This record gives sequence, structure tokens and C-alpha cells, in this order.
Amino acid sequence: MWGGRFAGGPSAIMREINASIPFDKALWRQDIAASKAHVDMLGAQGIVSVEDAALIADGLDKVAAEYEANGVPENWDLEDIHMTTESRLAELIGPAAGRLHTARSRNDQVATDFRLWVRDAMDQAELGLKQLQVALVSRAGEHAASIMPGFTHLQTAQPVTLGHHLMAYYEMIGRDRSRFADARQRMNRSPLGAAALAGTGFPIDRFRTAEALGFDGPTDNSLDSVSDRDFALDYLMAAAQCSLHLSRLAEEFIIWASQPFGFVTLPDSLSTGSSIMPQKKNPDAAELVRGHSGRIVGCLTALMITMKGLPLAYSKDMQDDKPPVFEAASLLALSIAAMTGMVAEAKFRTDRMRAAAELGYATATDLADWLVRQANIPFREAHHITGSAVKLAESRGIALDQLSIEDLKAIDRRIDDRVYAALSVEASVAARCSHGGTAPDEVRKRVAQARVALGLEEQA
Ligand code: ARG
Repeated sequence: MWGGRFAGGPSAIMREINASIPFDKALWRQDIAASKAHVDMLGAQGIVSVEDAALIADGLDKVAAEYEANGVPENWDLEDIHMTTESRLAELIGPAAGRLHTARSRNDQVATDFRLWVRDAMDQAELGLKQLQVALVSRAGEHAASIMPGFTHLQTAQPVTLGHHLMAYYEMIGRDRSRFADARQRMNRSPLGAAALAGTGFPIDRFRTAEALGFDGPTDNSLDSVSDRDFALDYLMAAAQCSLHLSRLAEEFIIWASQPFGFVTLPDSLSTGSSIMPQKKNPDAAELVRGHSGRIVGCLTALMITMKGLPLAYSKDMQDDKPPVFEAASLLALSIAAMTGMVAEAKFRTDRMRAAAELGYATATDLADWLVRQANIPFREAHHITGSAVKLAESRGIALDQLSIEDLKAIDRRIDDRVYAALSVEASVAARCSHGGTAPDEVRKRVAQARVALGLEEQA
């Protein structure tokens, strides 16, 4: 395709290091679509004859049908998907195929193909995450009043509801969705027609090709068009941040499923056994989601460092943009699917959660709050009094509400027996009814809002 000025061919090493076809064949659908939009425009603008344009479009359909049926052939001499397709087109329709590359370059071609691919990946991530939110909201609705210990430092802090805990992930995933949507909107401009780097002298219509490919319009600077990979970085940043959320959720399931916790029984379909220990049921899917986030962050790092310091416009380094994006996309899709299944099908052991919430003096803050409210004691002092009560209960190995009123009065005479009502875990969660708090009624409100936002229900 470019042999005119060369006396000898590339060495074996040159062929191997140069070939991107082993991975960029994944772009074949986008490459065909962009070529069809381009040749349609060339015909409409009179840059190639209408007959040749039709012949080329028809030939591209035939190439696409072959790829669909047999896969994309991998010939390193043809370097990449662009030359592979053009060469097959020439075999099928003859010399007219050579007119397809008028007024374009592989530089704007690859920028266009890759944008289209990343745009689809963004849409798929958004859709998958929405399904995960649907699962979270439905389980949260079931468990709006199921009490579990809430943790800070993974130490029992205050009782919360499982519904509240699950809705925290609904919020995180919502931000992830908005990051993908935001990136999609920013990237949806067509670089096609920027040609090699400077634009072209042919009377092309970039608005027409942009529209045909579903872009909002053409990009405005040809140098930027062929050297910009922000869209891929935006995708990877959103994917990386999303994978952090998924890994945190995965980690919760791993901890909850371990026997000392026993908060959850994972679905058999997302667990594995051990080849030596017959009793084992391992949370491998969750562990792999946790592990995959490391790889996805690695993909982001790889592309950031590839792009760092590249002068304008295109450099061949940029061919390395694709493997990390492809890898991250398949890891992310699997991770989202695994966590959606896990949330939807896990059996929450609410009895174990409830019992654990009774341990660890989770309602100590409620005693302090009661002293503030009922005895008008400043919070810092109430905190101190409560600390003494916890210390006494701990030394006897009993719960706070098992201390007798005499014991409590000995610590502070302003305590009376109305305090017991405040020390139950039910009273504790019900009291936390501030906006966004863990009270069951508050959780139900958030779930109802989320169901409307997800289109599961009409606005009441
Ligand atoms: N396979 C190349 C890539 O993915 C296509 C662009 C080649 N452009 C060039 N000037 N050699 O980046």
C-alpha cells in the first residue's frame, strides 16, 4: 500500500512490531461503517463517480459479510484493519477500490473507528450499570428495615439497615453512569476528514459523514482530530473509577460471606469449590472483580503514559491505544455482570446481621444522644459518660441495655429508665431520619425515588 518509495521490504521484526491487525481487527465493523459513510460522501460531492461509489459500497458490504462469516484474516503484511479491508476490497472489485482512500488517511480513519468503538463501549457500560442499579434498588427495597452493624475502620460503629448500605452503592454506580454519559457527550464529534493531519484540498463534506456516523458534528481542528485520544482516556478513567466501586462491593461480599461474619450466602452460580477441601465455597467471582480493578487501573495508566509527551500530530505510539481499552472494556463488562448477579441472587442472612448489630456497643451514640436530648448535657460530656457505661458493660461482658438502672445511675444520676427505649438497635436506626439517614422510612423514600429515576415506576 505504501511501497512506492522503498527499495526493500520490511524485516521480519519490522513486520511484527508494526502489525496491529492481531488486535485492531476488533474495529472491523466501525471501519466498514466509516468507509461507507466516506465513500457515500465522495460520491455525493462528485469526488468519485456515483458508479464507483456504489461499486465500493457494495464491495464493502461483501467484505463485511466475509468477516462476519469467517472472521478477519490476520496478515501482518497488511499491518492493520484498514489495509486489510482495502486490500480485500481491491481483490473483490478491482482498481476502483483505490478511490476509497481519496481525501482521507489512516490517521483520521483510525481516530474515527476507535471513537465509534469507544462510544459503543460507553453505551454498554452505562446500560450494564443501570441493570446493577436495578438489582441494588430491588434488594434495598426488600431490606429497608433489616438491621446490620454499620462499620467505620471495619469496627462496629452504629446500626444501619442493609437497604441503606446497598443504596450507598446505588449512589456510587449513579456517579459512574454519569461519568460515562458525560464522556460520551464530550467525545461525540467526528474526526473523519482531518486526513493525515492538515485537512484536505478535496471538497469533502465533513458534516455529512459526521451525521451518517451518528456524531453531533465534525471536530474543529485537524491536528487535534488525529492526535486526540482523550475520549479513550475519559473512558478508561470512568472505567477505572467504576471498577474501584465494584471492587469495594466485591470486598463487602467477600467479607460478609466468610464464616465468622456469615452475613450472606453467595449464589452457587457465582462461587467455586475447592479441589481438596470439600466444605469450601469460595467467592471467586467477587475476588476476580476485586482483582480486575487493578488491571483496569493498569490499562488507564498504560494509555496515559503512552500519550504523555507526544508531539502533534499522529505518532505510531498511538497504535498502542487500543489493547488497554479493549482489555479494560471486557474486564469491566464481566465485572458489572458478576456483581449484578451477586446482588440479585445473594441470600442475605438478616438474623446473623441483626445479632451482630447487637454486639460491639453499636448504640453507644444513642445513649450519648439521649443524654443530650433528655438531660440537656453537652455532647462532649455525654460522650464521656457513655464511655464509662461502655467500659462497665465491657468489663462484665454484657450489652449496654443489660446494665441495671442502678448501675447507670451510679455513672450519672441524670439517667432514668426511659433510656432503655433508646438503646435498642431498632430505636437507633429509626432515630436516624435526617435526609439520607439510615432510618427505614428514609431508605424507603430513597428507594422510591430511585425506582422512578430508573424508570421502574411512574412519578407518584
Ligand atoms: N494501525 C494504525 C494505528 O492504529 C493506523 C494509523 C497508521 N497511520 C500511520 N501514519 N502509519 O494507529
